[in-house]
Amino acid sequence: MPTVADSYGSHGSQMKQEHPSSFTQGIKMVMKSVDLRSDTVTKPTDAMREAMCNAEVDDDVLGYDPTARRLEEEMAKMMGKEAALFVPSGTMGNLISVMAHCDVRGSEVILGDNCHIHVYENGGISTIGGVHPKTVKNEEDGTMDLAAIEAAIRDPKGSTFYPSTRLICLENTHANSGGRCLSVEYTERVGEIAKRHGLKLHIDGARIFNASVALGVPVHRLVKAADSVSVCLSKGLGAPIGSVVVGSLSFIEKAKILRKTLGGGMRQIGILCAASLVALQENLPKLQLDHKKAKMLAEGLNQVKGIRVNVAAVETNMIFIDMEDGSKLTAEKLRKSLAEFGILVIPENSSRIRMVIHHQITASDVHYTLSCLQQAVQTVEEPTRI
Ligand SMILES: Cc1ncc(COP(=O)(O)O)c(C=O)c1O
Repeated sequence: MPTVADSYGSHGSQMKQEHPSSFTQGIKMVMKSVDLRSDTVTKPTDAMREAMCNAEVDDDVLGYDPTARRLEEEMAKMMGKEAALFVPSGTMGNLISVMAHCDVRGSEVILGDNCHIHVYENGGISTIGGVHPKTVKNEEDGTMDLAAIEAAIRDPKGSTFYPSTRLICLENTHANSGGRCLSVEYTERVGEIAKRHGLKLHIDGARIFNASVALGVPVHRLVKAADSVSVCLSKGLGAPIGSVVVGSLSFIEKAKILRKTLGGGMRQIGILCAASLVALQENLPKLQLDHKKAKMLAEGLNQVKGIRVNVAAVETNMIFIDMEDGSKLTAEKLRKSLAEFGILVIPENSSRIRMVIHHQITASDVHYTLSCLQQAVQTVEEPTRI
């Protein structure tokens, strides 16, 4: 009997060369691959590869790479800041930004307890930067309570004992909250708190363009209150490598020195920046469509028995899928079952799976995923029926 996977075998852009697995005695053939693990898994497009081939390059450590200059100027303009600097990764962009703002020993940064910098960046701000983290609880929507932020600021009168608060960090969109957006109003209110206390505001804007598109707000307006932003080119925008930090001229001067110190000064980076310039042109206009597909997928998934999705919380390109209470499903079992259909996902924890839409996921991929899900769930819940 043909399976759902068979009937979709000839659609979509990513076809498997080999059968990733077989069940029911090696008969099932899976031809399609739908990679929903992250928006970091995209492959460079033909236009990106061509631009990389033809990129005009020079030594960027000496400051001469013309394509890097072009990307940095374009990003600074888009973000409404004085200057920008290409860096190898979002992690380095955040570390450089925190270190640039907290260049006095004994500095403390206020940040969300569930934010990327705190959870996933190897504690680099403390182990490398010597900066003390003061966490404030992240709410479900990725915000931190404004009163809690203000209360976390150290009293300068106690500086014999306390570290000195110098920086507040926000993350927009907030990945661990499922790609939720922080509004302009919220960001401005945090900016006002920072100003009132003589602090700086940094935004981990790995997916700031997703937030800007979802909120319908120009990106420069969304980050106006921030002193610096780290923007990933290799997430929703779909470039293969790199991030950019933006801020004032003096911030970027410091950032340049820190990038070299951290080993992030690279030579002919025009090759990478050329792909990023194409990504801005090709993929920025597609983000809205990515968000639509995410919503469509979320709505469909929420109809499947055994799992549940908070559809209203799907604001950008991420979807969290929770196993229903009392179900035999676990995130790992469902991940394995989906892999049999060529659908790749990452478990967030034992009862939650994350799916992320990016520009290489087609509407047909979304339909295929929805069609397979019921079978994948049944395979786990009633293995003998399949
Ligand atoms: C919100 C956020 N910030 C920063 C990063 C770090 O980016 P990179 O993987 O380029 O170091 C990520 C990576 O997924 C992220 O999701």
